[in-house]
Amino acid sequence: MTYTLSELALDIKNIIQTNGILEGSGRICSFVSKALMDKNFISDNLPDRTSDQKPREVLYEDKDTGFCICGHVYHTEAIGFPHDHGSSWAVYGQADGETEMTEWEIIKDNSDDDVIYVKPNKKYIMKSGDVHFYAQGDVHSPLRKEPVRLLRIEGVNLDNIKRSNIKAEDQKSSQGTVGK
Ligand SMILES: [Fe+2]
Repeated sequence: MTYTLSELALDIKNIIQTNGILEGSGRICSFVSKALMDKNFISDNLPDRTSDQKPREVLYEDKDTGFCICGHVYHTEAIGFPHDHGSSWAVYGQADGETEMTEWEIIKDNSDDDVIYVKPNKKYIMKSGDVHFYAQGDVHSPLRKEPVRLLRIEGVNLDNIKRSNIKAEDQKSSQGTVGK
């Protein structure tokens, strides 16, 4: 039986309201993984994009708690630069293709120029079915060389969130706009 978007939304909402995100993040990841393993869920919610559509689609936004379930479909390479999600957390779920994810360590915060400087900490490949939780302030950068489909759960709709000004210590500027 197909796991539906509304069932995933209800499962996430119950966890957020009952346990809170830090205690419940592991269970949320489990439910996202369950959705990623369901071929019907993927075909229903992460369809191909036409040339006039954006890669990102907000599939569900919860009016009580504010979390969102988003579908991201990239048909071409997408290079993300180091970023956080402002005041929000996020769960990334890889439905199709591969993402090379780098996590960054903050080496200097709230400096005179209000820039957060970071250096790479670890790197891993997210494959189909892989899920990862990024807490508020976790700096990361995804690199997608081939077409990918992703599920992303956001604590609040990231379209409305101000991002931190982040630069890699060995780069002049690393504030990116793609693949966030
Ligand atoms: Fe991100």
